[in-house]
Amino acid sequence: MDNATRESAQVSTPAITTATDTPPAAAPLRLAVIVASNREGRFAPVVTEWFLSRAAEHDDLDVDVIDVARVDLPTALSFSPSDDVKAVLADVSPRLAAADAFVVVTPEYNHSFPAALKNLIDWHGSEWHAKPVGFVSYGGMSGGLRAVEQLRQVFAEMHATTIRETVSFHGAWSHFDVDGRHKDPSGAETAAKALLNQLTWWARALRDARSVRPYGG
Ligand SMILES: Cc1cc2nc3c(=O)[nH]c(=O)nc-3n(C[C@H](O)[C@H](O)[C@H](O)COP(=O)(O)O)c2cc1C
Repeated sequence: MDNATRESAQVSTPAITTATDTPPAAAPLRLAVIVASNREGRFAPVVTEWFLSRAAEHDDLDVDVIDVARVDLPTALSFSPSDDVKAVLADVSPRLAAADAFVVVTPEYNHSFPAALKNLIDWHGSEWHAKPVGFVSYGGMSGGLRAVEQLRQVFAEMHATTIRETVSFHGAWSHFDVDGRHKDPSGAETAAKALLNQLTWWARALRDARSVRPYGG
């Protein structure tokens, strides 16, 4: 699909964020945590809950969880979506548009990220523009890092900026007990702190910038 076709296929919110709809600089940052797995029996909730507990340490964050398992978008993009699809978009697109920052909680499937996540990304456009994206990844040997490196390419195309620091769990299931508690949390907590520090710096800087000048993506 060429750029012009893709742009016109998007049925989400307008491309330009104006100064008038941008919150004041002191307002909490709106962080959308995107859960990338919709697999039956997925491990995603354990990692997500752990990360949410880390984000809760930042009282300047207003967190929304967007779970791809609850976003029923078809894989066929459409110029004229059905009423059912419009209803799904009416729920999820404004939440993405409202976010000042994203953290994607993603596993690795076959050296990449889940198709359901790509579908959510592709159904949208301006919602990602001029915003930071951080990653919490998990998987087998690689800890999901190959999925993250591929996502950096995708989000560059979406006019987003990705955060250098990541949290990754290799052999993810071995790090958590049956109640979902991290068995030895200090390293992961340090990584999450670095990620959140960088993410919030970029989120504030870019929110301020968007409030002064609409992003011309
Ligand atoms: C289809 C499939 C492919 C996978 N491929 C990889 C892989 O390439 N590298 C890796 O480290 N783990 C891989 N795994 C292991 C997953 O990352 C791991 O099972 C993880 O828990 C999946 O996340 P989920 O349970 O939230 O869906 C794969 C798992 C599945 C189901």
